[in-house]
Amino acid sequence: MSFLAQRLSRIKPSPTIAVSTKAAELKAAGRDVIGLGAGEPDFDTPQHIKDAAIEAMRQGKTKYTAVAGTLELREAIAAKFKRDNGLDYTPDQITVGCGGKQTIYNALMATLDPGDEVVIPAPYWVSYPDIALLAEGSPVIAEAGPATGFKLEPGALDAAITERTKWLILNSPSNPSGGAYTRDELKALADVLVRHSHVWVLTDDMYEHIVYDSFEFSTIAQVEPALYERTLTLNGVSKAYCMTGWRVGYAAGPLELVKAMNKIQSQSTTHTSSISQAAAVAALNGPQDFIAEHNAVFKERRDLVVGMLNEADGLECLTPEGAFYVYPSCAGCVGRKTPEGKIIETDADFVTYLLEAEGVAAVHGEAFGLSPFFRISYATSTELLQEACSRIQRACAALS
Ligand SMILES: Cc1ncc(COP(=O)(O)O)c(C=O)c1O
Repeated sequence: MSFLAQRLSRIKPSPTIAVSTKAAELKAAGRDVIGLGAGEPDFDTPQHIKDAAIEAMRQGKTKYTAVAGTLELREAIAAKFKRDNGLDYTPDQITVGCGGKQTIYNALMATLDPGDEVVIPAPYWVSYPDIALLAEGSPVIAEAGPATGFKLEPGALDAAITERTKWLILNSPSNPSGGAYTRDELKALADVLVRHSHVWVLTDDMYEHIVYDSFEFSTIAQVEPALYERTLTLNGVSKAYCMTGWRVGYAAGPLELVKAMNKIQSQSTTHTSSISQAAAVAALNGPQDFIAEHNAVFKERRDLVVGMLNEADGLECLTPEGAFYVYPSCAGCVGRKTPEGKIIETDADFVTYLLEAEGVAAVHGEAFGLSPFFRISYATSTELLQEACSRIQRACAALS
């Protein structure tokens, strides 16, 4: 009998965290490595948010809070949903967790029974299938390839739904592709969901504010009010507010679901840090202008990276609407030979080659459920990105 639980064998450690860890180890060992695996902004948390945390400590806000989060924070979140998305949620309908990740975990743990299916468009954020598996559900992967800008088509959604489907997980803008759904594209998916009244939607809007070229963000409960009663709208402060380490994510939905999620959380972390919650209030209620400033920098980097990757022999890269990732195809490198004589057979081989030959750490597409691609995060300095893309070009040119 194994001491470790069987459920552990169903999942793998996060491959994106594994790449960042490997890059950091190689760097510590003296190798010249540029890490393009990080899923976090390279900007620091704005000062007014840090000040709010310090003030919270001074005021002794250092005790347990409500499991769902402080009322002050849930009121700030309700105001955010109204202001940005035109959605009405009461504080009771809102739950705050230790990052968006725990909030997704709570939702799936609270709703999935063995065999319940979760439709996940690929490429997907690496944690969705594994969280579904931990909760004893069955991920059903629906392909959303480059022909549609990595966005799920209504026909593919319809085909993926069965009577066991409990959730569709949508993520826009997407990690890893950066693709974001327009209002019309969301409406077309909503039309399918309206016909399948047993299917709920978990919309992960974590990158809502990181969009470019006047793209207008929409979320599904806003686009199709008929779905409000079966939508969990998820968001957080990690990305737009540069607060990944503070661990604050949140979601809003029907009361019964939110209560069930709070019940799960009450027996795990109880709540996220009281200090982080105070900081998140300042983030949501305070000035928002730094977001546009960051986006201007991200957009420049996106354009630089897309341009340079498209010049690399064997790579093809779309220009995504948002987030800080690109998801280029390396199909033109598969089947070719490295200077050491190794044939590149998969995207995993390709990223291993990039790391070994040129010290560039990216994440292979297989981790996100769609090959042969790889993910580059451009949340790093423009100079490093330029250097990394030159190295990628050199590595591609060296393949025969
Ligand atoms: C699409 C997506 N959702 C959720 C999360 C989780 O964010 P958090 O750091 O708030 O747990 C991430 C983080 O990488 C993400 O990319």
